[in-house]
Amino acid sequence: MENKLILGDNLDILKKWTSEGKKEFIDLNYNDPPFNSNRNYNILFNPKTDTVEEAFRDTWSSIKYFDLLEDFKENDVRFYEFLKKLEVLLPTDSLKSYIITMGITYWYIYKMLKPTASLYHHCDPTTSYYIKIVLDKIFGFNNFKNEIIWKRIYSTGGVKSGNTRFGNNHDVILWYVKSKVYTFNEPYQPWPEDHFKKALEKGQHFDDNDGKGQYFWSCLSFASEKKIKELTQKDEIRYKSTAKYPEYKCYIKNSKGIPIGDIWTDILPLTPKIIKYPTEKPEKLMERIILTGSNKNDVVADFFNGGGTTIITAIKLNRNFVGVDLNHRALQLTYKRLDKLKMIAKENYYIEGIPRSSKDLRELVNKNIYGKDKDSKYALEDITTKWYLEKVQGNIKKSGDGSIDGRFSFIHNKKPMKGIVQITSSASKNHFKAFCSEVSKGTGDIGVYITFEDTLTKGIIKEAKEYGRIGDVDKIQILTFEDLIDNREQYKLPKDILLI
Ligand SMILES: C[S@@+](CC[C@H](N)C(=O)[O-])C[C@H]1O[C@@H](n2cnc3c(N)ncnc32)[C@H](O)[C@@H]1O
Repeated sequence: MENKLILGDNLDILKKWTSEGKKEFIDLNYNDPPFNSNRNYNILFNPKTDTVEEAFRDTWSSIKYFDLLEDFKENDVRFYEFLKKLEVLLPTDSLKSYIITMGITYWYIYKMLKPTASLYHHCDPTTSYYIKIVLDKIFGFNNFKNEIIWKRIYSTGGVKSGNTRFGNNHDVILWYVKSKVYTFNEPYQPWPEDHFKKALEKGQHFDDNDGKGQYFWSCLSFASEKKIKELTQKDEIRYKSTAKYPEYKCYIKNSKGIPIGDIWTDILPLTPKIIKYPTEKPEKLMERIILTGSNKNDVVADFFNGGGTTIITAIKLNRNFVGVDLNHRALQLTYKRLDKLKMIAKENYYIEGIPRSSKDLRELVNKNIYGKDKDSKYALEDITTKWYLEKVQGNIKKSGDGSIDGRFSFIHNKKPMKGIVQITSSASKNHFKAFCSEVSKGTGDIGVYITFEDTLTKGIIKEAKEYGRIGDVDKIQILTFEDLIDNREQYKLPKDILLI
């Protein structure tokens, strides 16, 4: 099993896997899709500035699900008709879009789950009742195990009064299994430290000082004759005239702790200071789900990877992983977290959808996937600004952009300054000159020109030097894809700077 991080729309990946005959390889799948909150989430580069980039959109109203549904029809007419009926009942357009898209996604995901697998779907009351109907249909009503309530914030409303309703402070996690044979490593909470002392004092527990330790009396509503005989011989059973059933001594030392119920209030939310990705979930939450629903070396998948909390926790717990997200930044952050973890060597995982070497990138450019024809023209710019370059915001304007594909800001000698970036698969003198003249006009204090090494000429390199220096670095910098990707180099900023 290869550990994988995949850039792309999960539905496209699932369809591709299905067409390749891939199936039943996932042991545990946790998904935390956007919740239909009608918000767009931003990643903040630096809170002191307003340099933000949209991380992901949480609005379903703009997604056109009609074609998706019609395309799906031939896969499973009965499920298609089920979705059509549900569509009529759903109250809003965005809910229709969310439920139908998620329904089709789960239809494919189901095929990728092993017969012993579990699915945990994270949502909130906005969608939980509707998505349950769909999941009941796919997994089977009897394969629904729990609705877990996770108290995700302490309170809402704070100290202010005058709220118009109770605070929304819980999320819902729906747990489904694929068959009767599944993994459930029952989680326990440790007993409070003074629990046993207090229970003895209160007369709730007993100790016969026979070395067996503390026990309490528990009702024996059903037992075989053999069991009753055994308990009687060990003097571990009693009969009360007032009770219908006998009671037996339930020894505490056999108790692993307090079994965890379906309301989780013991996992603290992340504080805004440590959140690196919008709506990031705490590792403790993932730890509980992964430890309960999988074993070592199992495959844990997250089709809405975000900042990668699921797979980071999975690695720490010796599981294999698959993480999918359509957002570059999400995968970039996950990649950084993986790098920091150092628990998994780079050769042991694979990033699909992002070239990992300049040679791979060149191949994609040559195949017209990145960079040549009209539709793919901007993919090279997008992937370079979002994935390889640090703290650069890609230019949203794709044409008439005045030679600018990305921008960054910094402070030099206490003055705010700007950098501009131009990205091309093949440099030419005229193209380079046009970029340099933008810098000369003052559009940028530093200009970074990125291209493949073999398209650079001596003339271009010489001309770049002629624009002089800012602090201790060149004003016009040429960075090759070879440096950027293979050697992990970045553009250079003057020493006395503060990157913002
Ligand atoms: C709520 S976030 C997940 C947060 C994650 N649980 C964490 O702890 O960081 C949802 C993620 O789903 C991604 N997403 C939304 N639609 C997607 C799709 N169709 N395919 C792949 N990823 C998608 C978004 O880009 C976003 O990163």
